[in-house]
Amino acid sequence: MIEEQHTVDIQSTDQALIEAYREGQDALAYSELVRRYQIPLYRILSAILSDPDQAEPACEKLFVRAANRLHELHDPRGFHPWLIGMAKDVAGDFEVDAGVVAPLSRPQLLSAANLSLHAGKQVVADAVRVALSQMSSQQRTMLTLVELEGNDPADVAKAMGIPLPDFEVQLEEARSRFVDLLTAPGAGTTPPAMDGVPPAVTSPADLPAVIGGRYRLGPRLGAGGMGVVHRAHDEQTGEDVALKVVFLGPGTEGIRARFDRECLAMNMIHHKHFVRSHAHGELPGARWIALDVIEGRNLADRMLEGAFEPRQALEIARQILLALGHLHERRIVHRDVKSDNVLFVVEDDAPIVKLIDLGIAKLPDDTFTPETARLTAAGMTLGTPAYIAPEQAIAQTVDGRADLYSLSVLLFEMLTGKLPFRAADMVTLLTMHVSTTPPLVSELVPRPLPVAEAIDELVDRGLAKTPKDRYRDAQEYIEALDAILTELGE
Ligand SMILES: Nc1ncnc2c1ncn2[C@@H]1O[C@H](COP(=O)(O)OP(=O)(O)O)[C@@H](O)[C@H]1O
Ligand SMILES: [Mg+2]
Repeated sequence: MIEEQHTVDIQSTDQALIEAYREGQDALAYSELVRRYQIPLYRILSAILSDPDQAEPACEKLFVRAANRLHELHDPRGFHPWLIGMAKDVAGDFEVDAGVVAPLSRPQLLSAANLSLHAGKQVVADAVRVALSQMSSQQRTMLTLVELEGNDPADVAKAMGIPLPDFEVQLEEARSRFVDLLTAPGAGTTPPAMDGVPPAVTSPADLPAVIGGRYRLGPRLGAGGMGVVHRAHDEQTGEDVALKVVFLGPGTEGIRARFDRECLAMNMIHHKHFVRSHAHGELPGARWIALDVIEGRNLADRMLEGAFEPRQALEIARQILLALGHLHERRIVHRDVKSDNVLFVVEDDAPIVKLIDLGIAKLPDDTFTPETARLTAAGMTLGTPAYIAPEQAIAQTVDGRADLYSLSVLLFEMLTGKLPFRAADMVTLLTMHVSTTPPLVSELVPRPLPVAEAIDELVDRGLAKTPKDRYRDAQEYIEALDAILTELGE
């Protein structure tokens, strides 16, 4: 045994360690790098492979490969992202090496992003949307990633853990099913509808003029993951409502189940900052819910104009937190807090906010089982990658603190005009939520912040990777926020 003479200063920067290793193949310097990065990389690999047993040997393989290739890394400051990139390759090889053919091994991870990451709601025409909604989540994911987003099929196959030849066959099947659905909606493949009546309403074009015997259909207000929202005139009360409709074609049991749960949950909520529901019902082949119409716009549209003034951003976050506190008291987790799901109006110069969309909410009796995960994955996105909490990204059970994380992403976005994490593909984006330290708000604000340090601290705590490091609940978050509002002065 050769006595190890070197010592490594644990204060050394990654860069210094990498250089030490490159120069002298200094094993201790490398061990120190491994020590620093093994936990985040292990987490990432567990998420990609969705199997902790495989993640361990994959992690080992990753660090061996990284050691061998360290000379290829041009800028040592990019060590962490470089490792993440390599983790995806290793995970891909690993699945192929191990002969793992697990096309459904991580539906949550992939469907978490399908449709909503890049393909903006306007991009997916209604007919396309309906056709997609009638396909399995796996087929939908393939088509979305390959056809709508233009990714290389080989990359998608790898990300989905499907060997390329199998993937190509499945993609071809998905394409022809898609064409069938588009050209002849429901034809040939339509199973009998649940009540024996064949689905009649399969797209917005089929909506009748009057719904539920009282709501006269008006112009469209918006669209989300699965439904369309129209303004409608309530002929009984003379007031307008927002009518959210989801279409139920073959193979959409998951969507129906979700929507029924959404209606159920809406009945439990009565809060100033949460949209109110009036009634819900069904059409042949579709379901609807009537909501208060919010005369305003969603925060996603508003964000196109850039950051808010700090006071306004904090005030909006505060109102959303009030609504979240109300949900959490009822043991409902929203699970989809993001700018599209916040509507706001400005009254007397003051913003008034309403949270909407319990489409993928977790209800008190929900236990996380593969079955509910499958339902959610088949029906809807399980949260949106840009806002998703780390524990949600790796499909662990979540509680209200996941919403506090997503709200913190939104607050970050309102203060800076930018999201804390951006990536070209969703696996990287999800892994960044799991393991990358977010930038500080003060580094990205367009103008210097008053009380910068306090705001940095506030958001940083909300974005903690581990739920127990965040605020305990919405109330505690509000108290921290109020302290800053007071400091900012009236
Ligand atoms: N009550 C409402 N008043 C006005 N617009 C609404 C209302 N509800 C939804 N919208 C618009 O429709 C979009 C989609 O609604 P949402 O409930 O989020 O559907 P999804 O579950 O499909 O995401 C929203 O982003 C918003 O622009
Ligand atoms: Mg929505």
